[in-house]
Amino acid sequence: MILYLKVNITVIGRSCYNNYILYNNYGYELIAAQIPSDGRNETMYSRVFSIGLYGLDGYTVTVEADTGAGMPGFDIVGLPDTAVSESRNRVKASIKNSGFSFPVSRVTVNLAPADKKKAGSLFDLPIALSVLEATGQINFDMRFDAFVGELSLNGELRPVNGALSMALAARQAGFRRLFLPIENAAEAAVAQGIEIYGVTTVFDLTRHLAGEDILSPAEAVAFDSIPVPLQPDFADVKGQYAARRALEIAAAGGHNLLMIGPPGSGKSMLAKRLPSILPPMTYNEAIETTKIYSVAGAMTGGESLITARPFRSPHHTVSPAGLTGGGTVPKPGEISLAHNGVLFLDELPEFPRSSMEVLRQPIEDDKVTISRVSASLTYPCSLMLVAAMNPCPCGNFGSPNRVCTCGQATVSRYLSRISGPLLDRIDIHVEVAPVDYESLSAKEQGESSASVAKRVKAARELQQRRYDGEEFSCNAKIPSSLMNDVCTLTPTGEQMIHRAFTSLGLSARAYDKVLKVARTIADLENEKLIDAKHVAEAVQYRTLDKKYWNV
Ligand SMILES: Nc1ncnc2c1ncn2[C@@H]1O[C@H](COP(=O)(O)OP(=O)(O)O)[C@@H](O)[C@H]1O
Ligand SMILES: [Mg+2]
Repeated sequence: MILYLKVNITVIGRSCYNNYILYNNYGYELIAAQIPSDGRNETMYSRVFSIGLYGLDGYTVTVEADTGAGMPGFDIVGLPDTAVSESRNRVKASIKNSGFSFPVSRVTVNLAPADKKKAGSLFDLPIALSVLEATGQINFDMRFDAFVGELSLNGELRPVNGALSMALAARQAGFRRLFLPIENAAEAAVAQGIEIYGVTTVFDLTRHLAGEDILSPAEAVAFDSIPVPLQPDFADVKGQYAARRALEIAAAGGHNLLMIGPPGSGKSMLAKRLPSILPPMTYNEAIETTKIYSVAGAMTGGESLITARPFRSPHHTVSPAGLTGGGTVPKPGEISLAHNGVLFLDELPEFPRSSMEVLRQPIEDDKVTISRVSASLTYPCSLMLVAAMNPCPCGNFGSPNRVCTCGQATVSRYLSRISGPLLDRIDIHVEVAPVDYESLSAKEQGESSASVAKRVKAARELQQRRYDGEEFSCNAKIPSSLMNDVCTLTPTGEQMIHRAFTSLGLSARAYDKVLKVARTIADLENEKLIDAKHVAEAVQYRTLDKKYWNV
């Protein structure tokens, strides 16, 4: 004779579970997960953990499900309105199409904390699991597990954005395992110290949790073993020694740079090669940049960690929100995607004023804050700004051997499109002349990026040692309070800057910039004191605003 008894068993850290005990002639035997799912008279509760995203950071989300008597229905609370109905439909269909049944009872799911606006789709998987558990169709120990994933109607998992941030947050919160869509596993595994499981379907996941078809955790790839993707090399650039030198100085001191020259002189070509002479990314820089790309949904398939400094070149038709970041739940924009790399504004005068204005503060602060009704988020944007422009609409203004057909008024109008305050944040201005025939037809290649990068690296290391313990690490960011301490001149250097200041009529703003650039030039030569020749070269990079803008 078999007798069914119903008892309550408390599971640590959770509320009560209703389980059945099978009692027969041989003694007690606990049968877990054998609860009938008709749900007519039962009130059942379950709890599953997930990770939500707030900006670049993840936070723990508790997904609770409750089934009970009442009109059949499926409510989700704690999600924004539009996300709810979509999630509800996906969860329902994927439960049915994964070999389970959706309960014919009242199901309520709650996502806590309720006060955070959550992007909906990534909670599909934990919602489905909580419903399955509350209806007794599964019963696993999931106290130390977090689940993330959007579901398709047939129970497959779809990739989500922000996997690395979520994995880091899950580890921080003390979870032992994170289950997420298989496409995101390699990226999440970069956060070591937590087991990452890439999952294909809800069915596979339940088999794994039941101990039947065990999945193996994703393996973290060692940072050093990830090859840096090939970048365009300076060896391709013929001639253009002045521009190359200016780029090297900019790279060495982290200075922003403006190139002015006629079309076809190689400005875009030069700018694209700047990342190749910057120092390699550190592990922390790679993590930061990867988090931004991942949250923005800008990772290219299969990539686990971004190891090459970004080069972003937004078109001038980009909206201000596209530059700084935006959306109802704000996502990083172009300036944050350029974090730890280069933001290239090609054809600068074509950018609308509004776009140039929004860049000003972030470039100064290395971070951008986006405020929306739902959230106010801050994303980092420590970048080198490189801008390029023609000197006038026809491109020949200021050229020694070509005639400009624009007329003074047109040229002035064209140049006045550039926002003064933005121009002010650019330390180095350089003219790029059309490449001459001899250079272009020469057989030998230009100096390779690897060779330039060595000098840049040495100069950067020198700065890092000098600024150890400070909040900045390169000459471009020296605060005015420290200028006198770190930009010490030789007597002739002093005379030179004095002369430049009076004869060229340099502004007070320009004075600081000249000194910072001169500091970098001296660092490239490993000189402690700034000498006359360093000042002289730095002053050159300030003469163009006089020539073109007359300031
Ligand atoms: N110094 C150079 N060495 C080799 N090729 C060059 C050089 N300058 C220009 N070019 C060629 O001309 C093309 C146009 O250059 P680009 O960088 O687009 O000019 P810009 O941006 O100044 O209009 C390049 O793609 C390259 O093929
Ligand atoms: Mg160009």
